[in-house]
Amino acid sequence: MTNRKALIAGNWKMYKTGPQAAELATRLKSLVSDVTDVDIMVAPAFTALGVVAEILKGSVIHLGGQDLFWEVEGAYTGEISAPMLKAAGCTYVIIGHSERRQYFGETNATVNKKIRAALLEGLIPVMCIGESEAERESNQTFSVVQKQLEEGLQGLTSDEAQKLTLAYEPVWAIGTGKTATTDQAQEVHEFIRKRVETAFGNSVANTIRILYGGSVKPENISDLMAMADIDGALVGGASLDADSFAAIVRF
Ligand code: PGA
Repeated sequence: MTNRKALIAGNWKMYKTGPQAAELATRLKSLVSDVTDVDIMVAPAFTALGVVAEILKGSVIHLGGQDLFWEVEGAYTGEISAPMLKAAGCTYVIIGHSERRQYFGETNATVNKKIRAALLEGLIPVMCIGESEAERESNQTFSVVQKQLEEGLQGLTSDEAQKLTLAYEPVWAIGTGKTATTDQAQEVHEFIRKRVETAFGNSVANTIRILYGGSVKPENISDLMAMADIDGALVGGASLDADSFAAIVRF
């Protein structure tokens, strides 16, 4: 990390009912109330956004959605739009998480549409990219990540790209307890930043935050954050416990 302000984001996935999410948010809010040098975001399930937004009002913790649909409104049963997230109190939205790509048919093309919809509404997209285990083993890590970036960000201007946060999450490290080594992560982060520079110029590349995700824990966060191109973390499992997430925030 250099002079970019770190972002530690918690992805609660399909965990926590409204009351459980309220309890977690209340505890977290008190544990990190004095933190100003790191940006903090949590992304609860849609059903918990309202109650968590109330609790986090006036706190240092930002709220995020876990996904959205690109249309503003309409007959799209089961979907949530960018204006709905915004009105619920979100400032961020996770887009293209590997679980959405794997189980719900998300593609680079749908990621692109969702990023545009988020930006139109002034939400900060946290765009997730990363290779599977088979892709890493067959030396395709860089080509996969490059394609995800090119297609996911296709047609964006530098001004739009400036507003993004990226998250590199090697699929084989998500929820598996296997973290990428700091060198493995740094190598891909550096590559991503170079691709951003080629596509959007030096100033976007120098300011864009690139988070690492995949089995981040209190025990490994400081080594990851010591790497030049790692600007924060997208945390799944360890964000479901207030103490461990607060410990990560205080890397
Ligand atoms: P994990 O999940 O921390 O449980 O590996 C990370 C993520 O999916 O964002």
